[in-house]
Parts: sequence; structure tokens; C-alpha cells
Amino acid sequence: MTFTASLRTTSMPPKALRTLANTNNARFLSTSSLASLARPCQIIAPATTVRIRQETSASLQQPHQNQIRAFSLFGSGASKPDMGRIPKEVKNDIPEVLLHESHPLPMRDEFMGKKRLSTKDLEAIPIDLGFHREPSGVSDWVAYQVVKSLRIPVDLFFRTKYIHRVVALETVAAVPGMVAGMLRHLRSLRRCTHDGGWISHLLHEAENERMHLLTWMKVAQPSLFERAMVTAVQGVFFNVFFALYMISDKTAHRVVGYLEEQAVVSYTHMLDEIATGVLENGPAPKIAIDYWNLEETATIRDVCLAIRLDESVHMHTNHHLSDRIALKHEDLRQDIQKLQEERGMVPSQNAEEVWSKPNKY
Ligand SMILES: [Fe+2]
Ligand SMILES: [Fe+2]
Repeated sequence: MTFTASLRTTSMPPKALRTLANTNNARFLSTSSLASLARPCQIIAPATTVRIRQETSASLQQPHQNQIRAFSLFGSGASKPDMGRIPKEVKNDIPEVLLHESHPLPMRDEFMGKKRLSTKDLEAIPIDLGFHREPSGVSDWVAYQVVKSLRIPVDLFFRTKYIHRVVALETVAAVPGMVAGMLRHLRSLRRCTHDGGWISHLLHEAENERMHLLTWMKVAQPSLFERAMVTAVQGVFFNVFFALYMISDKTAHRVVGYLEEQAVVSYTHMLDEIATGVLENGPAPKIAIDYWNLEETATIRDVCLAIRLDESVHMHTNHHLSDRIALKHEDLRQDIQKLQEERGMVPSQNAEEVWSKPNKY
């Protein structure tokens, strides 16, 4: 999702964008982040114009009707304002349509096509199920140990209450993107420099995680005690992650990368439990059908497949962002694949083994 204010100052040649989008890691960045970097310098004249628009690249599928979001005081969806309709007086109200019809956008292109996705479609979307990033260096090792130790209390508390477990985890998962986005936003203001394309992506990630939470809340109602625990954990986690990001943003993104590796494995196990009948495969909540553009007959299993695909994006993105900080190439327009290879920043393929022990969740 791209919020276009009155002035945009970045530009990126289409060829360079293609190179970035084709690199192994950059493909996991949200395409809207890339598109925002690619958009040429332009001035959107009236300061009262508010535009939220989706991917404009011709190579992507057109979104279905519910997902088209382009609003302005001068008409919706038009690429140029209709000059004949420009009001004579400045009007600073938020357009009503924006207040009532603005919905979160999914993170992956696959969920933004015209056609609603069936189970087969979801299963056909490629995903790196075996991906695990070996820690390299002290910072990575610390991140890895932190995430491993975090599992112990979670496993003890929730055991096999899968839905309750994911509700609690998603409340935590939605924190890092917001904290990181906020801190980079403040840094950009302090230094008066461009953020390199990070902020919109990080905030989008936080929103995506919140949608995971809202979806599961429709499936399981947490008890009062669990809600109290979530509040307490959020209070602690927010501050700890904030402090960690201030001390070492590289480690912080690596921590999130490892958390997301675990999330992919956890959702895989949840799918196994649905397949064996341990978990009931009921109908998907409407919020999930709308958000991931699923068929009306979608099930909880379809929701798990969709969320696991999201978690895979977060996993690759956060490892990639940590690599960028380590390589001192934070501008997302710079291709770092060669540097990553030279520094041996390559994944191994044993995530299942790493994250399935000692308990299988
Ligand atoms: Fe999530
Ligand atoms: Fe995630």
C-alpha cells in the first residue's frame, strides 16, 4: 500500500527495479515497497489530495473490485485529477469513501488477483518450507538463542491448544513491524533523509500480522486469563524489542526472521493436525475470505495455508533486512545478492528439524 503525499522524491529506472525484484531476497519484499521506489518524481498538486493506491505495475494482475482503493477529492480511481471538478474552495475533510471503504491490503500479489483463490490455488503457491538461516556471528547467535528460549514458556503454557497459541503469538508478531517502522520513521525525520523504502514495508507487515490476529479471534475466543497474559506480554515485548532495535537493529530483524521461521513450522504442524483430524476444519471466517480473496467455501485449512505464505514473506524479508544492515547497504534499491554470496549469507535447509524440537507444535 502506498500513501502518496503531495511530493514524491524518489525514482528508480525500470530495469533496476526488475533487477531488485528478481534477486532471491528482494522478491520477498512487498511489491508495493518496490513500486514506491520505482515511481518517478512527481508533484501531486493539491495538498488536500489523499490517495491510497495499489500496485500500478502492468506486469501484475488487476485487483478485484473490493481491493481497488484510489480516492481523492477529485474523484476515485482516476490517474489524473479531473480538472473540471476541482472545487473552488479548499476542502480539508477526509473523503467519506475513504473512511468507510478503506481496508487493509494483503502482502502477496497472489492474493490480489481478480479470481478468488481455491485450496488448489493456495497449495500451488511456492513456499520455502525447509528454509532456515544458520546463525553467522555473535549477533545472529544471540538472536537464535533468544528465539529458542522464548519457545519454552510458550510450549509450556499452551501445549496443544493450537488456536489459542496462534492468537497469543500473533499479538506479539504484530509488534516488531510497528516498532521498527516507528523508529525508522523518527530516524528519517531526525536525519532528514529518505528511509530507503523500509517504513511502508514494516508498517504493512505489522498490519498483516494484525489481520492474522483478527482472523483467529473469530475462530477462538481467548479466556480472560489469556487476554491478561497477552496484555502483560505485549507490555514487556514492546519495550524489550524497542530497546533491542535501538541497540542493534541487525539483531532485532534477525530475531524476527527466526520467529517467522518458527511460525512457518508451527503453521505446517497445524496443517498436519487438521489433516489427521485432531483439529476441526471448519469454515473460514468472513474476514479471512475478504482479506486473502478466498472462495466463499474456504476452510480453516485454507486460512492456515494463506497465513503460512505470509509468514514465509516475513521470514525472508527480516533475514534480508538484517543482512542489509550487516552489509551497510540499507537502501532497498541497491542489489546485495552478490555481497551476500561473497559473505556466505546463504540459507541451510533444515528448518523443520531446528524448530520442531523438543516439542512438536
Ligand atoms: Fe502472523
Ligand atoms: Fe509473521
